[in-house]
Amino acid sequence: MQSYDVWEISDHVYWVGARDWNRRVFDALIPLPQGTTYNAYVVRGKKKTALVDTVNPGFEEELAARINQVMDQEALDYVIMNHAEPDHAGAIPQVMKLNGGATLVTTEKGAKMAEVYYGVQQDRVLVVRDGDTLDLGGKTLRFIEAPWQHWPETMFTYLVENKVLFPCDFLGFHTAYGLYDDQVEEFVPFAQRYFGEILMPFRKMGQKALEKIEGLHIELIAPSHGPIHRNPEWILDLYRQWTAGETLEKVVVVYVTMWQSTEAMIKAMVESLLAEGLEVSLHNLVYADLGDVARDLVDSRGIVLGTPTVLGGMHPLAIYAAHVVKALRPPLKYGVVLSSYGWGGGAVKQAAEILEPTKIEVVGAVEINGPPTDEAYEEIAELGRQLAGKIKA
Ligand code: FEO
Repeated sequence: MQSYDVWEISDHVYWVGARDWNRRVFDALIPLPQGTTYNAYVVRGKKKTALVDTVNPGFEEELAARINQVMDQEALDYVIMNHAEPDHAGAIPQVMKLNGGATLVTTEKGAKMAEVYYGVQQDRVLVVRDGDTLDLGGKTLRFIEAPWQHWPETMFTYLVENKVLFPCDFLGFHTAYGLYDDQVEEFVPFAQRYFGEILMPFRKMGQKALEKIEGLHIELIAPSHGPIHRNPEWILDLYRQWTAGETLEKVVVVYVTMWQSTEAMIKAMVESLLAEGLEVSLHNLVYADLGDVARDLVDSRGIVLGTPTVLGGMHPLAIYAAHVVKALRPPLKYGVVLSSYGWGGGAVKQAAEILEPTKIEVVGAVEINGPPTDEAYEEIAELGRQLAGKIKA
């Protein structure tokens, strides 16, 4: 019989989740270069026990095997559902079936979702509100409503005596490596791409959530993806910057090219921006990892979008990127569009239409027929200087 590791991360608090080493995409959209984890935790009080979050569908048996190394799984008293998305709540039907006496603890919106998604009857649900507590016997769970991280029903759970915060998706990131934050080499880029992909559209709600936990004494942050933060200030400091929309003198460049004319324009723009001392991050959309683009959107102040005209409009990859930028609501302030066409334009007009509802000020655009001429190169360099001037101001 296979045995599984169980980690006591704090006094009578056990990691019982699952590592998904092979998962390579999330939401049918986001690449996961290092897989991910679905962290779940058992908290054992003197009188009662609670399971904080569960695991993705397909990992139910692994979860059960780990819980059973700590206690009899069928004796769980409470299942805390901080978030209803299936990667954390997918094992709830099995856990609730095995534990006929267990109570599901969640927010009011979570209770409705638990019924819709997991068939949990309302008479087995304890709805909690901001500040409510649950006494497990020497272990007190305090619930913190933190909606829209990144679904409406989300909450955090704080274990008072151990000073452990369970914030589910918030403050987590995707990697299957490492149990603790200081064991992960690429901590910041992975945390940043996760923030960009999942939480950036909800920055204001993220700020509110941070304000709520600001007064708590936190020794350990135990999220539901990635490593546990035993240096909580590292990730909290980053989230303070990111939720505030703090940007750098940095430009993210996303482009697609068919016959290298648009690419020649992009290269000229990049040279101009670098000459002005800006940081530039470039992504050819044919090869780009969407997570890397999301990462750079978190702290870039400007964006350059390059696309040829195809069938009277933008190249489909550029349309996709522009819609992603719009949906993720990054703190970008300034933008530029560059385009080459064969016999008729249209891409710049379409880009302006897609980006119009955003807060991005389009500083200018260059749209040319065929490869760039000396005159076009000069126009692009000048536009780069204008964009840099705005960004540095
Ligand atoms: Fe990791 Fe929103 O689920």
